[in-house]
Amino acid sequence: MTICRVCAGPLQEFADFGRHPLSDAFRRPEDDSEEFFFRLAVGSCASCTMVQLVEEVPRELMFHEGYPYYSSGSAFMRAHFEAAARGFLDRAGPDGFIVELGCNDGAMLHVVAEAGGRHLGIEPSGAVAAVAASRGVRVVGEFFDEDLAAGIRACDGPADVIFAANTLCHIPYVNSVLKGVSTLLAPDGIFVFEDPYFADILAKSSFDQIYDEHFYFFTAGSVANLAARHGLELVAAERLPVHGGEVRYTLMRAGAGLPSASVTDLLAAEAVYGVTEEATLKQFQSTVERIRTDLTGLLSLLRDKGKTVAGYGATAKSATVTNFCGIGPDLVSYVCDTTPAKQGRLTPGVHLPVRPHSAFAESYPDYALLFAWNHATEIMAKEQEFTRSGGRWITYVPEVTITP
Ligand code: SAH
Ligand code: TYD
Ligand code: ZN
Repeated sequence: MTICRVCAGPLQEFADFGRHPLSDAFRRPEDDSEEFFFRLAVGSCASCTMVQLVEEVPRELMFHEGYPYYSSGSAFMRAHFEAAARGFLDRAGPDGFIVELGCNDGAMLHVVAEAGGRHLGIEPSGAVAAVAASRGVRVVGEFFDEDLAAGIRACDGPADVIFAANTLCHIPYVNSVLKGVSTLLAPDGIFVFEDPYFADILAKSSFDQIYDEHFYFFTAGSVANLAARHGLELVAAERLPVHGGEVRYTLMRAGAGLPSASVTDLLAAEAVYGVTEEATLKQFQSTVERIRTDLTGLLSLLRDKGKTVAGYGATAKSATVTNFCGIGPDLVSYVCDTTPAKQGRLTPGVHLPVRPHSAFAESYPDYALLFAWNHATEIMAKEQEFTRSGGRWITYVPEVTITP
C-alpha cells in the first residue's frame, strides 16, 4: 500500500497515466541517452485528504542548472506577480523582510528589490536564479527546507511575508518546508502560497496539470489539515484566475489572525462538490479517457485530410497530454515556444521538435493545438492574424473544441 507523504495515512489511487518522462526535460536532437521514466499516478489520502502523486521523482532531476521554465514568459503572469509584490511591500512595511520560495527569474521579487525592500529569494535552479540576480534580486541557490530556514533566520531574522507561487505543490517534503516556515515566520507574519486548485482541475478535467513537478493538488480542506500539523492556521483562501484556476492560501501562526469568511466558504463549497469523494474522482477518470479518444481521433482525421497542426506552447503540462495520448510528430509537426532554452530541442517522450515563435508566424499551420491553454486570453489576443487568415485553435479542456 502507498502511504500519504504528509500524514502516513493510506493513499487511495484514482488515476494512472502510465509511464511518463520528466515534463521539462527538453532533449537535444543529438542526445541518444536513455530518458528517465516514472509511473504518473495520483491518489487521495483517506486520513488527511491530501491529493498527491504516488511516485516521487528525485528533485535534482527536475530542478537544476538547465531548468527551462521562466516565470516572466507571460505578460499576464508578470502583471500578476508585480501586483502581488506591491501588496507584500504594503504589508511588510519599510523595514519588513520578504522571502520567496521558488523565486525563479525574479518575476515577483524584482519589484521588491527595485523598491529597496529587504528580501531573499530561494531558487535551486541555476539559470533562472541567475536571471533573478541580474535583476537585483538577492538569491540563494538552494532547496528550501527546515535546515535552510534555520540558517536564514539566524542571519536575517524573522520574515514578515513568505511567498511561494507554484512551488509548494512541487515539494514532496512539504512537512520539512512547513517546519522551516514556522521557524522563519515572524509572530504576526504571513505565509502566502498559490497553486493549481484541485477542484478546478476536476471541474475542467485539466488532467495535464498532473505531471512530475506537481506532486500535490491542494484543497482548502487538505491545506487546513497540513497547517494544523505545524501549529499554523489557514486564515484566507482566495481563488485566482491564473494557470487555469488557483487558490492563494494565507497561513499564520495558530491564533495570530482571524480566519476570513473565504476559508469557511471554500471549505463548504468543497464539501458540497465532494472534492475527494470516490464518485467525483471516478467521473474525472472517465472524462479524461474521453478527452484522449476525442483528441487523438480529431488529430488523426486532420492528418488523413492533409491538414497541418502545430502545438502552441511547449508547456510542462503538454508532456502529460502528448505522452498519455500518444501524440507524436505524425500528428503534430512541431511546437512553437518563446523560451530560448526550449527551442531547437525535442519535447520529452514523444519528441516533437520545439521551434521559435517565428516558425509559427512565418507560415501558419491550418490548426494550432493550444498546449498553453491557461494563457488562452493573452495568446489569442496577440494571434488574431492567425485566425483572420483562416487558422483555427484546438483546445482539449474541459473538452475537445475547435475555435472559431
Ligand atoms: N514562482 C514561479 C516559479 C514556479 S516553478 C512562478 O510561479 O512562476 C517552481 C520553482 O520552484 C522552480 O523555479 C524550482 O527551481 C523551484 N523549487 C523547487 N523546489 C524548491 C525548493 N525546495 N525551494 C525553493 N524553490 C524550489
Ligand atoms: P505554462 O503554461 O505557464 O507552464 P507549464 O510549463 O508549467 O505548463 O508555460 C507556458 C509556455 O508557453 C512557456 O514555455 C512559454 C510559452 N509561451 C509562448 O510560447 N507564448 C506565449 O505567448 C506565452 C504566454 C507562453
Ligand atoms: Zn494524509
